[in-house]
Amino acid sequence: MPRPTRNVVPRLDAIHVPWPLVWGDLFPNHAPDAPRILEIGFGYGQFLRWLSKSQPESSILGIEIDSISLRKAEGACDRGELPNVRVMFARAETAFAHVFEPETLDEIHVNFPDPWFKTSHAQRRLIQRNTLDLMVSRLKPGGLFTLATDIRDYADMSAELLADTSGLTNTFAPEPWGWERTVGVMTKYEARGYQQGRPGHYFVYRRNDQPALDLPVIRELAMPHMKITQPLSPADLAAKFVPFKTQAEGGLYITYMAAFSKPDALLIEVFVVEPSIHQQVGLLVMLNPETGEFVVSLGSIGTPRPTDGVHFAVRKLTEWVVGLSPDAKIVGDYTRRHFIEIAASESENQPL
Ligand SMILES: C[S@@+](CC[C@H](N)C(=O)[O-])C[C@H]1O[C@@H](n2cnc3c(N)ncnc32)[C@H](O)[C@@H]1O
Repeated sequence: MPRPTRNVVPRLDAIHVPWPLVWGDLFPNHAPDAPRILEIGFGYGQFLRWLSKSQPESSILGIEIDSISLRKAEGACDRGELPNVRVMFARAETAFAHVFEPETLDEIHVNFPDPWFKTSHAQRRLIQRNTLDLMVSRLKPGGLFTLATDIRDYADMSAELLADTSGLTNTFAPEPWGWERTVGVMTKYEARGYQQGRPGHYFVYRRNDQPALDLPVIRELAMPHMKITQPLSPADLAAKFVPFKTQAEGGLYITYMAAFSKPDALLIEVFVVEPSIHQQVGLLVMLNPETGEFVVSLGSIGTPRPTDGVHFAVRKLTEWVVGLSPDAKIVGDYTRRHFIEIAASESENQPL
């Protein structure tokens, strides 16, 4: 018996959608001025369902990094249960920096963000200065921001940061938060918090008319590459490769993990961690038989996006190759010049 077919909505992820996002691609049947609503970390999706039902004319996007939550929500979308919802694999930090343009969101909702209790993990918390500044920039005038947490420390920390956020007005002022949910429905984590004696702290803010910081979408750059002349074969280079890491100012960390060679090319597996995006990419050192030069470039495995960090990774890999032989030299540089200016802040390459 053939299986019944059903509409499978294309999967979305922040690395592969256009930067900035074209909302009409996601919601082709919606009016261009339909309200745009974002939920960050929707988990098992109770709030997403509520949004879908209570605002049938809105374009609702849920973002998540957990595959099980995403699969569940994608299944519901495929079955037509959430007709005005799309979900996307995205870190909120990536989505705000690369995907959403300034003044394009009507509502942003965050329910029970991961608390990251340890001080050493504090930089992983969703609510922090940079992310809040981006949220303010992405909200339309009058837009709604809600946050709920059952962790008192997280509430205190958020209240302090929000009080310092001139672009948002607290609807519960002078109280920092409310003790009852006034927007939406109870979520899985919220219910668990109440069962375990941790009530919710509910923040409801409105975007006011104070100017936002100028934070345009970070678009992708041109593909980076560098040309070098050097005497070693790809196999020689692979034999000399030892995993190493490097970093630069502004929270850029690059780890060169492993090398694979074939007669005319070397492939290096690299993690590129930038504040806004984490990518695992393949960098290539390839012989051009016509010129005898080698080209160091970004491979296409996984369809990576050429960001600042990827340009930096190509440059540092080139420097590693050139450093292996006194006869090697750079003959062409098509990476972002910006990195030459910050070279003084770079650390030396370090073995892993
Ligand atoms: C504690 S759970 C809360 C889930 C749901 N909102 C609820 O209230 O039941 C936090 C959720 O946020 C997601 N998450 C964590 N960090 C994220 C990030 N940087 N961007 C998007 N989602 C994130 C997690 O995968 C998880 O599903």
